[in-house]
Amino acid sequence: MARLFSEVNKGRVRMRHKRRKSSPFPFNNAGGRFSVSFAVWISVFLVLFIYFISQITEKTDGKLIRVHPNHLSVTYELEDIEEEPNFRLPPPHKRNPRAVKRRGSKKKPPAYSEFLDESSELHSVLFPDRRLAVGPNAGNDSSSTGYFYPGHVWLDTDGNPIQAHGGGILFDDRRKTYYWYGENKDGTTYHTQPKGTARVDIIGVSCYSSKNLWSWKYEGIVLRGEQQNVTHDLYKTNVLERPKVIYNSKTNQYVMWMHIDDGNYTKASVGVAVSKSPTGPFTYLYSMRPHGSDSRDMTLFEDDDGRAYLMYSARDNVDFHIGPLTEDYLGLTGVMKKILVRQHREAPAVFKHGGTYYMITSGCSGWAPNRAMAHAAPSIMGPWENVGNPCVGGNRVLRLTTFFSQSTFVLPLPGLPGSFIFMADRWNPSNLRDSRYVWLPLKVGSLADEPMDYSFGFPLWSRVSIFWHKRWRLPEGWKNVN
Ligand code: DGJ
Repeated sequence: MARLFSEVNKGRVRMRHKRRKSSPFPFNNAGGRFSVSFAVWISVFLVLFIYFISQITEKTDGKLIRVHPNHLSVTYELEDIEEEPNFRLPPPHKRNPRAVKRRGSKKKPPAYSEFLDESSELHSVLFPDRRLAVGPNAGNDSSSTGYFYPGHVWLDTDGNPIQAHGGGILFDDRRKTYYWYGENKDGTTYHTQPKGTARVDIIGVSCYSSKNLWSWKYEGIVLRGEQQNVTHDLYKTNVLERPKVIYNSKTNQYVMWMHIDDGNYTKASVGVAVSKSPTGPFTYLYSMRPHGSDSRDMTLFEDDDGRAYLMYSARDNVDFHIGPLTEDYLGLTGVMKKILVRQHREAPAVFKHGGTYYMITSGCSGWAPNRAMAHAAPSIMGPWENVGNPCVGGNRVLRLTTFFSQSTFVLPLPGLPGSFIFMADRWNPSNLRDSRYVWLPLKVGSLADEPMDYSFGFPLWSRVSIFWHKRWRLPEGWKNVN
């Protein structure tokens, strides 16, 4: 036994000796002489590391942190992390008594209870007065021309508030024009039941056109609600939400898909309409339960190969379904995949960058805002993974409420690869026609202030970041930058 031990020990000594000999590390001499080449490598590494850090973080006045990852310099400004130190929720004892009453005095009302009440202090911060409206004919000084002001009333070229809620944008390559379609909610808000969802009658789908994404011309209601026929899907007391339009080059038709429902959200279907022109009028074709399933919030996504897909919240918003449209975009093939299973998500907005598919969704809390989630997938049909809350900047409350808004669409900026506009609705449930738009820059691949999921020390996906800005604009010449 003693011999065995001594053999083993000799072996260990031999191995240690061997390792020393072959070691690439510097302290390989008995005297610990420092290797010059190691020192050189360490210095190079340190210099590169310091340079990298100085590129990504630069504190200015303590409120603004510049994040400059390796992107086009024209988009640096969009990636400034802008904090909102003055925006605070009122302390609990100062909270609106009506909001407290709704939830019982013991429960701390969440941020959105304040926001739901038109008389609250918070409400007036989130829904600035009409006098602060922006847009081409708002009468502001020229310094606000071209700037997006999330949450402010946004006027069209006629000076009327834009009515395009739950909307989406189509870029018509032939006309080199953007078309924004959305719900026209310019009617009276009412409740069918005392505790039911706030709603307005179906007025129709509005369309606006623009070349610069800031100045929008009203093109009219391109799909109208039905006034007489109570059995029609679009009869005024039903629900038409989240219309999205894509162009089918094979049939030369503009195809609109939308969420169709009854006033109690039990029909849970999708509707389809078509037009030969982007500015309508659209002809309503039919509604259906996609793949035989209930379907509520939905969106369309057209891939680079011309294939289009429908995504929708299914099984009472518990799961999501995705499936390809037929070649004419008027129906669905039999193929369907369940995604985001048991995650209770809605308000999908899908986009693609560098061969990867991304999606932003919200949680399900009616008109009240909640925390957004970004998802990523190597293929449109999945598997989809969660990559964290994309909201950056502002403050904690803003980040946890998606800046008090809910996703509806993500618009690529083709001249700026990796840059998008995140489009969201700031719903005003006490007066839905006064719901506002929150448009913010979205970047794929930026650094951010919250960690994302890691695997063995390596991020699996690029970070998706939506940067808060009180006001911002697209970089000069954004269409031709690339
Ligand atoms: C949330 C959805 O995203 C909206 O489109 C709308 O259906 C509201 N719920 C109604 O409460």
